[in-house]
Amino acid sequence: MKVLVAGATGRTGGPVVEQLLSRGHEVRAIARSLSKLPPKVRDDPNATVIEASVLDLTDEVMAEHVDGCNAVISCLGHVMDLKGLFGEPRRLCTDATRRLCDAIEERRPVRPIKFVLMNTVGVRNPDLDEKRAWFERWLLAVLRYAIPPHRDNETAAEHLHRGVGKHSTHVEWCIVRPDSLVDAEISPYEVERSPTTGLFTGRPTARANVARFMVELVENDELWSTWRYGMPVITNSGREAG
Ligand SMILES: NC(=O)c1ccc[n+]([C@@H]2O[C@H](COP(=O)([O-])OP(=O)(O)OC[C@H]3O[C@@H](n4cnc5c(N)ncnc54)[C@H](OP(=O)(O)O)[C@@H]3O)[C@@H](O)[C@H]2O)c1
Repeated sequence: MKVLVAGATGRTGGPVVEQLLSRGHEVRAIARSLSKLPPKVRDDPNATVIEASVLDLTDEVMAEHVDGCNAVISCLGHVMDLKGLFGEPRRLCTDATRRLCDAIEERRPVRPIKFVLMNTVGVRNPDLDEKRAWFERWLLAVLRYAIPPHRDNETAAEHLHRGVGKHSTHVEWCIVRPDSLVDAEISPYEVERSPTTGLFTGRPTARANVARFMVELVENDELWSTWRYGMPVITNSGREAG
């Protein structure tokens, strides 16, 4: 398969790229800095690196990069410093999602392209009756207005739900919602339709597991048909969850 990865230098995007390459897929990696990619990725004949900030790509160039891909995985996330939290681009995940999906639509692929968006358990699935305690709803409302990256995650998911919808002949999507991210090796993990824990009792989720699940989504059509247009919540399983 040929997969375009946005946020390829990230702590989840990196493992996504490495896992795709190790499983024999071709990868087009969008990265702001080539030097942040490990040499084994840069030197891999199956990897093409697009050195650019994703939102700086013109529509035309973006369409060229999605052309011929079977899937797009977005692992973009705001850098956790003052500039990343409160500076521009405030709509990094939303605008990248919108423009990448528009680029796919523009190319009119014969078979639909799988679009996998890394999101968060703090964003609710509007298709399901997901309940939160009143103080969690209050906290999420505060985050929505006080912390731009949270709002960005919400609007990125909204774009797939409402903007792309479920009837496009060119784009199918899945929004992956990890719980509390940790850096750890691949381990057993669980995938649920909705959060099973509260905001303050979250379970760890290894970034490597998120990467594994996203790679399997694009590889495995049966798994894809289970989660297409869904917002699976992923956590480490059993004892690993602590
Ligand atoms: N922290 C948690 O517990 C948690 C839980 C659930 C979900 N999430 C969500 O998971 C997502 C990714 O998490 P992560 O830890 O893998 O992220 P990360 O390691 O911070 O990676 C973010 C990626 O986005 C890129 N990026 C950041 N700002 C950019 C900009 N202005 N223009 C272009 N690219 C930009 C980074 O590029 P550079 O390498 O060049 O900076 C990097 O490739 C985020 O959306 C986050 O909200 C987090």
